[in-house]
Amino acid sequence: MKHTINAESPDSEKVDLSWLSNPPRHVAVIMDGNGRWATKRHLPRVMGHRAGAESVRRVVTASRQWNIPYLTLYAFSWENWTRPRLEVNALMALLEEFIDQEIQTMLNNSIRFSVVGARERLPESVFKKIRMAEDRTSACDRMVLTLALSYSGREEIVKAATAFARDVQKGILSPEDLSAERFSDYLDSRDLPPPDLLIRTSGEVRVSNFLLWQIAYTELHFTRTLWPDFSEEDYRRALMDYQERVRRFGRTGATPDEGAI
Ligand code: IPE
Ligand code: IPE
Ligand code: MG
Repeated sequence: MKHTINAESPDSEKVDLSWLSNPPRHVAVIMDGNGRWATKRHLPRVMGHRAGAESVRRVVTASRQWNIPYLTLYAFSWENWTRPRLEVNALMALLEEFIDQEIQTMLNNSIRFSVVGARERLPESVFKKIRMAEDRTSACDRMVLTLALSYSGREEIVKAATAFARDVQKGILSPEDLSAERFSDYLDSRDLPPPDLLIRTSGEVRVSNFLLWQIAYTELHFTRTLWPDFSEEDYRRALMDYQERVRRFGRTGATPDEGAI
């Protein structure tokens, strides 16, 4: 079921989208800076995560209004398991709370919920809640909201390589059958188009093991704004910035036959 989202909604006339003539189809976000946001206010880090959940709501709502069909949010990395247990537990509890509070809104707005990442490492209650939300929203077709949880780009690639090797071992495919396109079908994110735009908040200029395979030609937008402060206006600015980019994919302006040097 690849790329079947039709984001154009009948009520979209109500929102002014004249500024968004060339919207990205898939936006991915590294939501960073919750801890620093809290520390600046002499609050425990978990309060930063709570405030960050509000930003998630804002960005999901705006994406749906602006007819962006795919939104993928990096919520918890494979490496984040090494944080103090109390912080990890608080993040897991917030995640469950988020799903409970948002499931109805997702259904009302026809948003399909999905998760990529090593979900088997998640606590059972979170695992079950995710499955419930995925099942209940499976027929929604206006937008796909994907949370990257317990996610590692390298692990995703290794898992795909293992699955391919198994198919070779079973005699279904031979090693020469592998191509970049076929390899993509072994990834957890096989149903998502590659991101057009990747946003990272908090001033860090790195990828932190997010969607390594998928961002080969993604436009990158870095902002110093901490994730809990990331407003609808900040998001709009990121999309405006994206629209200014010239995406060459290796080409020049000329066609192969023009021969200009
Ligand atoms: C991002 O905020 C949220 C997660 C990684 C779960 P951080 O918790 O990384 O916040 P900083 O980077 O320490 O400010
Ligand atoms: C990346 O943020 C992961 C998420 C936003 C979930 P981190 O805060 O964990 O990344 P590093 O450690 O600064 O690279
Ligand atoms: Mg961080």
